[in-house]
Amino acid sequence: MPSINIGLIGLGTVGCGVVKTLQKNQASIKEQTGLDLNLKKIADIDLERERPVNVPKEMLTANVNDILDDPEIDVVIELIGGYSPAKEFVLKAVENGKFVVTANKALIAKHGLEILEAARKNNVDVYFEAAVGGGIPLLLPMGLSLSANRIESIYGILNGTCNYILTKMTKEGKSFETALKEAQEKGFAEADPALDINGSDSMHKLVILASLANRCFFNEKDVFVEGIEDISQKDIQYANELGYCIKLLAIAKFEKEQLSLRVHPTMVPKEHMLSKVENEVNAVFLRGDIVGDLLFSGKGAGMMPTASAVVADLINVAQDISNELKQNVRLIGFEGGKKIKTLSIDEIESRYYLRIEAQDKPGVLAKFSEALGGFGISISSVIQTEDPETKTVPVVITTHRAKESAVKKAIEKIEALDSINGKVKLIRIADL
Ligand code: HSE
Repeated sequence: MPSINIGLIGLGTVGCGVVKTLQKNQASIKEQTGLDLNLKKIADIDLERERPVNVPKEMLTANVNDILDDPEIDVVIELIGGYSPAKEFVLKAVENGKFVVTANKALIAKHGLEILEAARKNNVDVYFEAAVGGGIPLLLPMGLSLSANRIESIYGILNGTCNYILTKMTKEGKSFETALKEAQEKGFAEADPALDINGSDSMHKLVILASLANRCFFNEKDVFVEGIEDISQKDIQYANELGYCIKLLAIAKFEKEQLSLRVHPTMVPKEHMLSKVENEVNAVFLRGDIVGDLLFSGKGAGMMPTASAVVADLINVAQDISNELKQNVRLIGFEGGKKIKTLSIDEIESRYYLRIEAQDKPGVLAKFSEALGGFGISISSVIQTEDPETKTVPVVITTHRAKESAVKKAIEKIEALDSINGKVKLIRIADL
């Protein structure tokens, strides 16, 4: 039976999941593929830490070159995350003629073109299904199965940590900090959880999805990014009252011939399927011009769901090696060259939720409506709750569709009024 030798770089949460999966399903993988997937070496900088897997001591090394320079190793799995030294390791593996499987969304979003070009030059492939949506099969459908379509819009819940935090704040009234701590304990969050909550992780995943969907390569700078740091219990409660859930959405949407790429907290109607996606579950709701609407959903973070995607890539790679197939046959659309114009955030049109802390005195509401009306923005609803205890009251306004640049000008005018306290809180309302 042909044997494929594997080197694993990074024995963290997902790395342990990969080892567990290979140990558990070795026999069935052999039976399915006729290949023996042999985990030969594991490199990690910390060899002492207690881990939830048993690996023979001689399999472990602190020297990554024991993998990268070993001519017997056919496939390198990179699971350390981040840009550097992951990029150097992946490029060295490729230059040494090794196939690569990675879950590294930051690396692919930033250096994907360069890495795939290096792979082409060296007649090997780089697979990265686990980089987006954890265990949900997304990149194969996006890059291949949907290639008959123009993908008109993608609305993704792509970060398990943020979805977990927002769900716990909404359903259980938990504080942001408590919910984040739980997400970290459950192994969903990045080593630096700021990347989850500031929207960067979702942005990386959106760059990859949108690039595959459109057969061109977008830049991280094409994406407007706003995280969930400033979402308060107040906004969650008002959203609920208005019939919405707040989700961190990653959006790629054609507006005429230009593509709007953005990640931001978004109010999603409670009856929409995306509102029902809770905890660490991820989902991608997309619209293709031929297929219509599709929803992909499943566990987007955590040890075993992510390991499922890594090992699936590994099996594909092993089959490609054994069949002498090259050039990432699955991902036909990930190329440079072609350009699609992207819209800046100021150019988009949306509906908006605005929360203003206002003094409760005559004429204040009229001033808000004058500021909005002056820029052609039509108000859709207003909530003002009485509070005898405080001098200010929250005024919550939702608008009809308006241009973002106009809304920002109106906000500037409102913030200049002496009858309000602090900044106006803006949350975009989804038009799904
Ligand atoms: N930190 C990521 C998340 C892990 O929370 O979704 C999966 O990429």
